[in-house]
Amino acid sequence: MTHDMNSLLNTESFQALAQERLSKMAFDYYRSGAWGEWTLQANIDAWEKIRLLPRALVDVSTRDMRGQLLGMNLSFPMLIAPTAMQCMADPQGEVATARAAAKAGVPMVLSSLSTRSVEDVVTASSADVVMQIYISSDRGFTKALAQRAQAAGCKALMITVDTPVWGVRERDIHNGFRVPDGMSIVNLQRHGQPTGHSGSGIGDALGWTIDASLTWKDLDVIRQAVQIPIMVKGILRADDAGRAFDHGAAAVVVSNHGGRQLDGAAPTAEALPAIVRAVSDRGPIIVDGGIRRGVDIVRALALGANAVQVGRPILWGLAAGGETGVARVLQILFQEFDLAMALAGCADLSAVTADLICPRP
Ligand SMILES: Cc1cc2nc3c(=O)[nH]c(=O)nc-3n(C[C@H](O)[C@H](O)[C@H](O)COP(=O)(O)O)c2cc1C
Repeated sequence: MTHDMNSLLNTESFQALAQERLSKMAFDYYRSGAWGEWTLQANIDAWEKIRLLPRALVDVSTRDMRGQLLGMNLSFPMLIAPTAMQCMADPQGEVATARAAAKAGVPMVLSSLSTRSVEDVVTASSADVVMQIYISSDRGFTKALAQRAQAAGCKALMITVDTPVWGVRERDIHNGFRVPDGMSIVNLQRHGQPTGHSGSGIGDALGWTIDASLTWKDLDVIRQAVQIPIMVKGILRADDAGRAFDHGAAAVVVSNHGGRQLDGAAPTAEALPAIVRAVSDRGPIIVDGGIRRGVDIVRALALGANAVQVGRPILWGLAAGGETGVARVLQILFQEFDLAMALAGCADLSAVTADLICPRP
């Protein structure tokens, strides 16, 4: 049965419909956090604790929510976060997401664990595509993948640094998660080997795709292999944010991987302020984790972020209605953000300043 996407009013309704449409194995894979899922929930709760002090009697009759990030144009300050294996949600997978991103005017970050090739995704639409990279134990392969992404037309790379080892998602173990037949992690095929995926989400076949011995100097290898800018994703500490810029990052992404890595890691809304204080003069700061309403984007900007990323709500849109579903989720987030800005007395992004936040007693 087709469902009118316009009848869904918020991202939570999309999650409910996605749960109906997806197999339990796929839904749990997308929804899960690590261990007790404390950080997963804390990400959401932490945004709710940021209370706003809206400005009265400001002319907000014309509003401009557009921004720029590393040469990319954003119709509002969000990117689609990299999330793995989107063909489980829709047959077109990452291609459908890219087409919806193009229509909404937001960049899409493509997971290196995607089920459509980077070339297919870049050529599918006019969206700006950023390639997410895990630095693997096969450095030559990772360097080649970075160069392949650049050649395909990706606007930047986003190197994820919070995965020396994979976090444990207990739901995936219970479900015996594996990549469904007919799907594969296409960008990571090497020497003709198929890439499977099992156990805690990621199994033996993908063991080589990350490397527990990685250090900051490994970032230099990838940065030197390409000309496009590099963002570093998975930063929770001010000193690490500084190190990322020292090693040539053009931007940092404050993230705990949506609560899928270290359960017990701080929610990103709580980690963000110290990072803003330390490095806001060095480059853009993006934050993700638990952004579910447009007003959360206002909260993130007021804390000093330049943009946010949204992960699971996009997957819910894709599962609920393919490209149309993602387009509707992006429309909801834009409309909520635009309205929250107007209600807060902000006609453009420069009006969002720290004094919009109510000091805690
Ligand atoms: C199903 C799923 C798959 C993910 N896959 C990746 C990935 O391949 N690479 C990566 O850097 N982050 C990955 N992430 C983390 C997201 O990029 C992002 O940090 C997180 O989802 C943001 O939190 P949110 O889902 O609460 O918006 C994944 C997250 C989910 C939920």
